[in-house]
Amino acid sequence: MKISAGLKTLIEAAAPYWAGEAEVFTTYWSWDRRSRQSDRQWLAYQCSKEVWGSGLGSLDKGIFLGPAEELIAVFPRIDSGRENGVDRHKVLEIAEGLWAEFAHYCAFADAHDALGEAGEPKLSPQSVKLAWKEDRELSELRVKHRAEHPRLGQRATSFTEGGYCTLFSEGMKLAHQAGGQHARANALIAEACAKVYEDEFGHMLKGIVGLDRETMTGADWKLLEALSVAQLKLRILMRNSQFGYPLASNRLAELLDGKARPLAFDYDKAQLAA
Ligand SMILES: [Fe+2]
Ligand SMILES: [Fe+2]
Repeated sequence: MKISAGLKTLIEAAAPYWAGEAEVFTTYWSWDRRSRQSDRQWLAYQCSKEVWGSGLGSLDKGIFLGPAEELIAVFPRIDSGRENGVDRHKVLEIAEGLWAEFAHYCAFADAHDALGEAGEPKLSPQSVKLAWKEDRELSELRVKHRAEHPRLGQRATSFTEGGYCTLFSEGMKLAHQAGGQHARANALIAEACAKVYEDEFGHMLKGIVGLDRETMTGADWKLLEALSVAQLKLRILMRNSQFGYPLASNRLAELLDGKARPLAFDYDKAQLAA
C-alpha cells in the first residue's frame, strides 16, 4: 500500500518521540539504581497497563473487563439480521483483542513473579488496579481527546498505542546482552517482550492502516498530529516514571522537545510503500 503524504508527515512527527520513549528503556537497563525491586516495580506497572488499558478502553473497566462484557452483550445479536445485529468477524476481533492483551498481562506478570522471593505475593489484576500518576494523566488525556474529537481522538489513541513497541523491541535485545547481576532478569524480560512484540506491532498498524482509507482534510491531519504528539509526550513522562526516573532532567526536557534522533519507521514491516 502506498501511503499518503499526510500519513507520512504524521509518522515523521511521531518518530522523535518514539525514540525518546526508547531512550527511557536503554538508559534504565544499564542504570546503576536498577535493582530486583525496581524491575518488579516496572513489571507490575506494565501489568497494570495490559489489564487496565491506559485509556485505550474505559477507565474503570479497562481492556479485559470492557471487551469481556461487550462479548456477553453482543452474543445474542451476532448476525441476527436485525438493525442492531453484529458481524461475527467484529465479535472475533473483540475476542482476539481480549486474548492478546491478557496474554501480555500474563507474560509480564510471569516475569514479575519469577523475580519474587519467598513470601512475596503473586501479582493480580486488582493489586495493580491503581495506575500511577503519569499513566493516569496519559489515560485522561486520551479520554479527553476522544470526548472532544470522537473520530480523530480515537485515531490518535490507536496511533499512539504501544509507542512503536519500543519497550518490547528494546527488551528483546536484552537477550543478547551480557547481563552481569541482571542476567536472569534480562532473560525473563526479553522472553516476555518477545511474546508481546508482534501483537503490539499489529495493534499499532491497525491504528495506522485505515487512516488512509478515511477522508482526511489538511486540517484533520494537523489536528491528528497535534493530538498524537501531545499523547506521545505524556508517554515519555509515563515511561520515565514507570522505570523510576532514570533520565537526567535536562535529557528529559530535550526528549519532550522532540530533540531525539528520530526512530527509523520500518515501512517494509508495516507493508507501506513510502
Ligand atoms: Fe498489550
Ligand atoms: Fe495492544
